[in-house]
Amino acid sequence: MSFAALRASARRVNVVAPSARVSRGALRNPAFRKYSTEAPQGSAPKSNNKLLIGGVAAAAIGGVAFWVYTSNSSSAREAGTALKSGAQAAKVATNFVPSKEDYQKVYNRIAEILDAAADKGYDDGSYGPILLRLAWHASGTYDKETNTGGSNYATMRFEPEAKHGANNGLNIARDLLEPIKQEFPWISYGDLWTLAGVAAVQELGGPKVAWRPGRIDGTADLCPPDGRLPDATQGADHVRNIFYRMGFNDQEIVALIGAHALGRCHSDRSGFEGPWTFSPTSVTNEFYKLLLNEKWVWKKWNGPKQLEDKKTHSLMMLPTDYVLVQDKSFKKWVKAYADDEDLWFKDFSAALSRLFELGVPTQQFVTPEAWIMKSSDEKDEN
Ligand code: HEM
Repeated sequence: MSFAALRASARRVNVVAPSARVSRGALRNPAFRKYSTEAPQGSAPKSNNKLLIGGVAAAAIGGVAFWVYTSNSSSAREAGTALKSGAQAAKVATNFVPSKEDYQKVYNRIAEILDAAADKGYDDGSYGPILLRLAWHASGTYDKETNTGGSNYATMRFEPEAKHGANNGLNIARDLLEPIKQEFPWISYGDLWTLAGVAAVQELGGPKVAWRPGRIDGTADLCPPDGRLPDATQGADHVRNIFYRMGFNDQEIVALIGAHALGRCHSDRSGFEGPWTFSPTSVTNEFYKLLLNEKWVWKKWNGPKQLEDKKTHSLMMLPTDYVLVQDKSFKKWVKAYADDEDLWFKDFSAALSRLFELGVPTQQFVTPEAWIMKSSDEKDEN
């Protein structure tokens, strides 16, 4: 058994009682919102600062790489962003050049705040799941044909992207990371958000996820159009269209959606309700096992179409999760990952690493080889 798998099994605790939890959100807000363009209160981005310095500090580490990128950029919009940031780059570069250790400090701080959720009575006791969702939604807007969207510019800070229906509730994750941004002002939002996704997976018992900095903060005009993220009510064709557009194949699609081992749906965010597994704060292959082995029936309720497990009625699957066992090519991978958690860890880690780099020009990265950040349980080891 791998080290990562050992850590995962150590964390495998059933934190959700298979009882009343699921109806909590429904009670809180019966008027669910599915894909409206209206965002919940308070979701306006905290900062719409156009000249954000973080990624530029990263560019400073990369030395000339950033300037090469700036001068080579064929897109006027990109050049504009890079130039504005470039003015800041000089200032930052003279004062501070972050090292891998500095990024590790940011990682450590993120790791520290994950469990604060327990004291606040938030969800299942960890902010990890919503931080992972933020990292994924910031990256999953990528379109390989037009080379737009993705994690580079952290455009979800701006309306209209913050108000895209699929991003409902992610203001919680962005706000959570804001004090860390204030503490480490040299990091770009794109780097911070994706690093938080990495920390969530690693700290909740998942595999190591290779990551490297270099994203720069862009401007509101770089927001991708609405509709780039998947719609959970749709079928296999839609899922393929969305993920093929990002450049993923069927195996990677199945590997990525296994992230639903973590967290839950909230009726006041997506309209759906409930967790996928009994251990929503542990990265495990339970999602695949449950998908294959439980009997799933359509939930009878006054909400969007979703499935529930026939036995306990306390777990859920989205229509898009369920297509993974209805479609032959997808199902093959569901079986493989249900049988072999180490295999899933390996494939999930690789696909996630790639997801978080979508839309970032290679020259912007400060290192050719992505880094493995230390998890909090190995901080003192050298
Ligand atoms: C077909 C693809 C996908 C669809 C339709 C989908 C849809 C959803 C929906 C509707 C929610 C509930 C949001 C809420 O009400 O709070 C959710 C939550 C979540 N999604 Fe996905 N998702 C997809 C793929 C992914 C991928 C690729 C990842 C990560 C790699 C991911 C990570 C998560 C996480 C961690 C949560 C839990 C958030 C929380 O607990 O607050 N999802 N997803």
